[in-house]
Amino acid sequence: MIIAIDGPAGVGKSTVAKLLAARLGYLYLDTGALYRAVAWHILRHGIDPADREQVAASLPTLSIQMLFQNGAMRVLVNDADVTGELRTPEVTAAASVVSAIPAVREWLLPVQQQIGQRGSVVAEGRDIGTRIFPSAPVKFFLEADATVRAERRHRELVAAGHGGPMEKTYQDLSGRDERDRNRVVAPLVPAADARLIDTSLLQIDEVVEQMLAVVAAAS
Ligand code: DC
Repeated sequence: MIIAIDGPAGVGKSTVAKLLAARLGYLYLDTGALYRAVAWHILRHGIDPADREQVAASLPTLSIQMLFQNGAMRVLVNDADVTGELRTPEVTAAASVVSAIPAVREWLLPVQQQIGQRGSVVAEGRDIGTRIFPSAPVKFFLEADATVRAERRHRELVAAGHGGPMEKTYQDLSGRDERDRNRVVAPLVPAADARLIDTSLLQIDEVVEQMLAVVAAAS
């Protein structure tokens, strides 16, 4: 069984996906971390994330591995563990730009699908239900008011020591949203058979309980 969870930044996807995976004993696949790993690699090589040709040309020198340990995912780029470096503002901004490049999305497609073959996976991202696992039996699409999402993201950033003005967090999140929703390849849209959950006014546990009920009904 694959459970697909899509939605915009700050909607609570990672938090609920991790909890859901833990409750079900499934693997938690954070596909955003893969785009972040590509971004980390191209920044490391001094490549401009917006330079589509150079980014595409660097892909053959890249190898990404994911290790799953105690419910957490670690990401290795060319054998170096970069997990702790993937959530900086620089990598976040670059990941948003490289994720709109078709060659990057093509390259990451089999990487994600291979993990899906293990079965019992909760996969979280932007195009999981539409493109990566279109036949997943259970799909969720989370939404929330943009201000609520920016506040949540701001709290996370402050907790991680990357806090700045709230207004900047809002602008960054809106810019990323705009790119995710309007890109030509695999834009952020709910799959036709996805269940929509608006998390604006819900507690995390309430979202997880709703999801568990849907999974139970589908099993
Ligand atoms: O979920 P996240 O913030 O870690 O994702 C990082 C970037 O990767 C984000 O800008 C959107 C992009 N992304 C994507 O385009 N498709 C996915 N399946 C996952 C993430």
